[in-house]
Amino acid sequence: MLDPKLKQELYNQAQTAYGQAYVPYSHYPVGSAALFSSGKIYSGCNVENASYGLTVCAERNAIFQAVAQGERKLIGIAIAVPTDVFPSPCGACRQVIREFAEDCPVFLINGQGETRVTSLKALLPEAFGPEFIELV
Ligand code: THU
Repeated sequence: MLDPKLKQELYNQAQTAYGQAYVPYSHYPVGSAALFSSGKIYSGCNVENASYGLTVCAERNAIFQAVAQGERKLIGIAIAVPTDVFPSPCGACRQVIREFAEDCPVFLINGQGETRVTSLKALLPEAFGPEFIELV
């Protein structure tokens, strides 16, 4: 279980992060905040591109910020949007989360400030991961 204060901080940072989203094409801002084993939280937003396929999701931007600072173990990740419908991480982001956590809580926050908790295992069952390669 995550410390309630840390969890609240994760929610706050994910909500703040979508304010920086660069979304001139989809107009769908997403913010994410990822807690790593050092106890630090890293946040990110989605960044789109005129060449649409180059868009990077909020979750990956948050995680890659962390990894670039030397973090390797993801403890939990929050995803926030300003819309009524809860967010859900895309398939690519689920796989990137799996790279740094075998399982972890995934906190979803909608525009009403309501929250839902799921897990990586629920979102990506029977996942492929780095240990498959290391065992070869
Ligand atoms: N997006 C995210 O940033 N995270 C998600 O969980 C779902 C999708 C972004 C990508 C794109 O900028 C916009 O949302 C619409 O797909």
